[in-house]
Amino acid sequence: MKKRYLALMLLLSTFLFGAKADSSIWGNNLLSNILEYDKEGSLHMGHYFTVIQSTYIQPMLLFVLIVIPLAFAAHYFIVGPKVFSHSGKSIMVFSLFKRINHALAAISFMVIIPTGIIMIFGDFFGGGAFVRFCKGAHAIASPLFMISVIPMLLTWMKRMIFSPKDDIRWLKIVGGYLSKEKKPIPAGMFNMGQKIYFWFVTLGGLVMIATSVILYLVDFELGIFTSMGLSQIDVLRISALTHNIIGIFIVAMFMVHIYMSVFAIKDAYKSMIDGTIPEEEVKILHSSYYKELQEKGEV
Ligand code: HEM
Repeated sequence: MKKRYLALMLLLSTFLFGAKADSSIWGNNLLSNILEYDKEGSLHMGHYFTVIQSTYIQPMLLFVLIVIPLAFAAHYFIVGPKVFSHSGKSIMVFSLFKRINHALAAISFMVIIPTGIIMIFGDFFGGGAFVRFCKGAHAIASPLFMISVIPMLLTWMKRMIFSPKDDIRWLKIVGGYLSKEKKPIPAGMFNMGQKIYFWFVTLGGLVMIATSVILYLVDFELGIFTSMGLSQIDVLRISALTHNIIGIFIVAMFMVHIYMSVFAIKDAYKSMIDGTIPEEEVKILHSSYYKELQEKGEV
């Protein structure tokens, strides 16, 4: 089943790249093609599109790139990381399949995110060959994410369902991250922060994939959009804006994810490799899950 799924996704992404090679939108005639579409009758929203793109997208992203690291630096130096002993007992939490899948997503994001940022600040980077190279790398890394996102959604979703009892209490104390105290935190296998991240990167990730396919292959006949009164240029503009806005949120959340796994909880990143989390960490940061394991006699 898993092998068939991988083969299907690889086939699909190869098809997308094949189709892209013939696309009149992709390549030398990019701008003139798009202008042709505008003449064919559209909502003529080009002005608003340009204003939003040039006035809001870059500053929003810049804000995220400056404010989030400053907030993390303040947290790290004022509160400091949570430290749990890795020498005692550990609990297996992530199966090999989940770890490989997570690694694929992580590799893809390590290319997709920086190249996406460079494209948004393309003028700052002088446009040209470097930005075009990033555009290519952004597209080439995307199939890795496409392959990983559905299995990630399916294998983790059950544990990511919101549980008001724990999650609201977790939110009220900001997960206990404002203090270094080791008091049990209300959370199941995943806490509220992890759940928000999960739903955003998986469902948001699917929207990113859909909009990216439209952006690369927009000279497809899109019957469903035409029936809604949207021309190809409208669909292209709506897709670009959606892609950029959700993308900025994903960048912000990804930065939080990295900070949590590398800095805020010391050595937490090791669970990506061996799939285990120290028992003390589970007992404190995922106290409801720990109780569940105790009731099952697994700890
Ligand atoms: C270099 C990049 C990444 C690093 C270092 C990293 C690190 C980690 C670590 C250490 C955990 C386990 C957290 C725990 O102790 O429970 C984790 C979990 C997870 N990761 Fe990542 N990750 C990366 C990229 C990604 C990407 C790209 C995605 C999705 C697109 C992702 C989605 C998740 C999800 C859904 C979980 C489970 C919930 C959570 O802990 O937030 N990760 N990651």
